[in-house]
Amino acid sequence: MPTLFEPTSFGAIKLANRVVMAPVTRARAGKDSVPTPIMAEYYAQRASVGLIISEAVGISRQGLGWAYTAGIWNDAQVEGWKKVTQAVHEKGGKIVCQLWHMGRMAHSSITGEQPVAPSPSTGPGHIHTYEGKVPYEEARALRLDEIPGIIESYVVAARNAMRAGFDGVQIHSANGYLLDEFLRDGTNHRTDAYGGSVENRLRLLREVTEAVIAAIGAEHVGVRLSPNGDAQGTIDSNPEAVFIPAAKMLNELGVAWLELREANPDSHQAFAGATEQPKLSPEIRKVFHGSLVLNQEYTRDTAMEAVSSGKADAISFGRAYIANPDLVRRFQEDLPLQEYDVTTWYGPHGEKGYTDYPFAK
Ligand SMILES: Cc1cc2nc3c(=O)[nH]c(=O)nc-3n(C[C@H](O)[C@H](O)[C@H](O)COP(=O)(O)O)c2cc1C
Repeated sequence: MPTLFEPTSFGAIKLANRVVMAPVTRARAGKDSVPTPIMAEYYAQRASVGLIISEAVGISRQGLGWAYTAGIWNDAQVEGWKKVTQAVHEKGGKIVCQLWHMGRMAHSSITGEQPVAPSPSTGPGHIHTYEGKVPYEEARALRLDEIPGIIESYVVAARNAMRAGFDGVQIHSANGYLLDEFLRDGTNHRTDAYGGSVENRLRLLREVTEAVIAAIGAEHVGVRLSPNGDAQGTIDSNPEAVFIPAAKMLNELGVAWLELREANPDSHQAFAGATEQPKLSPEIRKVFHGSLVLNQEYTRDTAMEAVSSGKADAISFGRAYIANPDLVRRFQEDLPLQEYDVTTWYGPHGEKGYTDYPFAK
């Protein structure tokens, strides 16, 4: 079995090692959702990782309702991202774009419209707007005739991502955002072809994935799922019955890699809290034959064990990458890790807590 530091490939993407940077929203873009120059510096600092999965990137104005996050639906945004991908490639790194529609978690003060979801519902907690943190709003149900437009937004965003120089895309179907809301019966109460049976609840993810594959090729496409636990209040009465068929379906579509964010019984994070729901990754490993990336609360030792025992092909790190731009070297040489500062996780804080974490001497 390989080690964490050996190369691998996810479809067409060649990784120098099996450490992956998990997608981490940092909210350092402009109000026009165009990436800023410090974002290029931030990602370039982290280019020694096997693969960078970008922060979640909005596929449309409707889908992006979080202050200072970036989009990829127009040319100015594509130009901004070109500077990021160029900076990463100059350092020998690889980067894919996480495609994001926030669904019920968006806010009208940013999108200019009521949030949309499979069915009317309201997310728990608060969203970052330009006026500060405010409660989520009630979302309305997407009409059947609006669904082709949603799929088209993913296609346009995927094509734009390739134009911007990304090595591929990751379809964000995790964490209680639009595609995840369709998967789970806690948020999907539809009675049409997109609700009810598991097959129907998988339909939007299937159609989006098929369309993105047709546009840019399966060898550039990954998907993220968060099968167990409570994804920002988006739950399912029987996750196993949904997520194993979802992984099987993604395998049949030829998706190159699948990333699973899995909570643990002692997880403490508000948005992926403790769960007794067992991890589905061992079962998913049996039905998904592309590259499997596992995430959440891995350490150097547990990551090395997961890869060398064949549980995963790679491991992604979120919070550790916020504070350790040279995480691969720190793991290789078993150097201590720096602590992140929660108060600067999300902007607007500029370079503070963003590009100013030092490299190991
Ligand atoms: C500040 C912050 C922002 C995040 N933003 C995203 C995001 O944009 N997309 C996503 O899929 N997950 C996001 N996550 C979740 C991480 O990708 C990851 O699943 C989580 O941090 C657990 O992994 P870790 O234990 O290695 O940190 C975010 C997490 C943090 C802490």
